[in-house]
Amino acid sequence: MDTRFPEGGRPRAEIDAALDAMAAGDVDWRGGRVPLYVFGATAEVGEVGRDAFMRFFTENALGAKRAFTSLRRMEEEVVAMALDLFHGPEGAVGGMTSGGTESILLAVKACRDGARARRGDPAHRGNLVLPVSAHPAFDKAAALMDLPVRRIPVRADLRADVAAMAGAIDADTILLVGSVPCFPYGVVDPLPELSELALSRDLWLHVDACVGGYFAPFARELGRPIPEFDFALPGVASISADLHKFGFCPKPASTVFFRDAARAAGRGFDLDVWPNGRFATATFVGTRPGGGVAGAWAVLNFLGREGYRALAARLLAMRDDYVAGIRAIPGMRVFGEPDLSILAFGAEALDMGAVAAGMEARGWVPGLVREPPGLHIMMSLLHEPVRERYLGDLREAAAEAAPAQGAAVQAVY
Ligand SMILES: Cc1ncc(COP(=O)(O)O)c(C=O)c1O
Repeated sequence: MDTRFPEGGRPRAEIDAALDAMAAGDVDWRGGRVPLYVFGATAEVGEVGRDAFMRFFTENALGAKRAFTSLRRMEEEVVAMALDLFHGPEGAVGGMTSGGTESILLAVKACRDGARARRGDPAHRGNLVLPVSAHPAFDKAAALMDLPVRRIPVRADLRADVAAMAGAIDADTILLVGSVPCFPYGVVDPLPELSELALSRDLWLHVDACVGGYFAPFARELGRPIPEFDFALPGVASISADLHKFGFCPKPASTVFFRDAARAAGRGFDLDVWPNGRFATATFVGTRPGGGVAGAWAVLNFLGREGYRALAARLLAMRDDYVAGIRAIPGMRVFGEPDLSILAFGAEALDMGAVAAGMEARGWVPGLVREPPGLHIMMSLLHEPVRERYLGDLREAAAEAAPAQGAAVQAVY
């Protein structure tokens, strides 16, 4: 590794060659070897997103109001389309962000600031009540805002335990969370019951649909048994949904929505003591790549409901085949009943760390689950052509693995 700032520039050809050489050391994600981080639909969908991204490569969505009306319009249209999908009531608002973490951060901030205003206590430290399976982004937001988090064990079916969450609520609770689906097990939480709980206790319910926001509605349309989870439920205050996951849009692109403008009030930042004048953003970040906005606009328009439904049908058929293949391996069980294309699985009798090592030795990046010990795959269409190879390798790795000795799987994300 060269650690000096280069004195003279290097020729472009040399730079291209160096980039190629470095990429050659990466795992073969195009070949479906990575069970998270990257998402693929069809090659054409990828091209549509990339072309739109490159057209707006330099434009900055921070300037969407004053300079780039194109980006402003595209963002407004993306938000409007998504609110239509999520049954947003009249007056619902939303915006685009850099990812699930930022969307969640903004929802937690809006909830916290709203609660502080209502209580007339600008220092109130409201607590967050989450299923243990909720994403760490909530804890990240809570750490930044100095809020306590209560993570509640899930039910035997790995979905949020609404009664246990109700029991964890106290006078300082401000936020409840349900996931569509949760990352660890790929199961959707019982949002209708969480909505009831939120209404009965006058609490803010955030639906984390970062993974499934642009997948679950179409799986529902295809008749898959996923409960209602969006603004159709009266207790839902905010929703996060990532375009750069199963929306199949280029990174960075997520969306966050609020039931009404009053609830959205605290999401942004507004400073009026700066020499340049007032500085107000609806997001946490300042500069935002125009490409992310354009890429999302292009992909949503290219696919439409029909396109997403067709992709969902393919993904669910693929998921069913993976599940059947995993269940056919002696001792192996899928954890819970996964609702979309995230699966976690393991075998009590096997050292799952050894199975993971066996998969790694065969060229796969093993996703891991610690509780219960298992493997984890978040699958897009990148994983469709490699199913037989994956299952064959898994069968071999399982056959080689030693019996479990109570050893935990050491997962680091
Ligand atoms: C359920 C869930 N929420 C939030 C996030 C955070 O999204 P991001 O990595 O885009 O910040 C993820 C990421 O995988 C997730 O699975």
